[in-house]
Amino acid sequence: MHPELIKLEETFKSSILTKIDDPLLLKYQIELWIKRDDLLHPVISGNKWRKLKYILDHALSLGADTIISMGGAYSNHLHALAYAGKMLGLKIIGLVRGEQPDILTPTLLDMTNWGMELRFVSRSDYRMLRQYKGWQDLPGLQPRQYWLPEGGAQVLALKGVAELVSDINIPYDTLCVPCGTGTTLAGIVDAVPGQVSMLGFAALKNAGFLAGEVGAMLSQPSNNWLINLDYHFGGFAKTSTELNAFIEDFELKTEVPLEPVYTGKMMYAIYDFIKKHYFKPGQRIVAVHTGGLQGKRGFS
Ligand SMILES: Cc1ncc(COP(=O)(O)O)c(C=O)c1O
Repeated sequence: MHPELIKLEETFKSSILTKIDDPLLLKYQIELWIKRDDLLHPVISGNKWRKLKYILDHALSLGADTIISMGGAYSNHLHALAYAGKMLGLKIIGLVRGEQPDILTPTLLDMTNWGMELRFVSRSDYRMLRQYKGWQDLPGLQPRQYWLPEGGAQVLALKGVAELVSDINIPYDTLCVPCGTGTTLAGIVDAVPGQVSMLGFAALKNAGFLAGEVGAMLSQPSNNWLINLDYHFGGFAKTSTELNAFIEDFELKTEVPLEPVYTGKMMYAIYDFIKKHYFKPGQRIVAVHTGGLQGKRGFS
């Protein structure tokens, strides 16, 4: 790995597993653990470092001096990338969905403070950008520029994500993760022991396409995983009083912070699954906290 990346990785904390203490879990005889990847780093937390690590290494090994990527005005991916760029001396250009807001969101403000160049693109152009999957695919790319698709969804992301599985040093029956592009799920499916069931929870509406995309990313076919589509709460970044109340209650009980876009929806879904007897008594579930807490600033 590139020496600058090794230096940056040395600033990361090791991962923590927290057992959730809740009378409801006792009642249903389920053990629930959270893999606290949100604690890995103050900025590049959760699945972000996992996904970016080998991509950044690839870009640096090619001699790239600029990474161009895309995301929304609260994007965890762009936020982490901007910070990593600053630390590694890489120029980062963020193609941001929609019109430039009169007042920059806290996420966009951080990104500009870290030196990222923001280029706002119309929603229709943004959709078009999703077709460019490979690092050289963006039309008009200049020498030493490296293209990174939305959410860091690139095959090299899987290698970094797979490393989180070896950090889990207890046996478990089910591993849960929230899904945006499904890249994190795919990286875990590739690495998880065969007897473990993998459950992904889609954060967006009409995400039926995700299973095909995850299947296509896997290095070998596997049938120990599925993506549940029922807990999007109306769509990406949509929330409800019920979800907000759940998050508030969960945070009070456990002191584990959640956000409403990914981890809050996943945790709500896991609790609902438990109440519906989806898991057999005696099972141990591990949920991956994929971070994203910076995005919470977008919700009052
Ligand atoms: C906090 C958080 N959790 C989960 C995800 C979903 O990850 P993926 O796009 O790999 O499915 C994202 C998006 O990258 C995210 O920011």
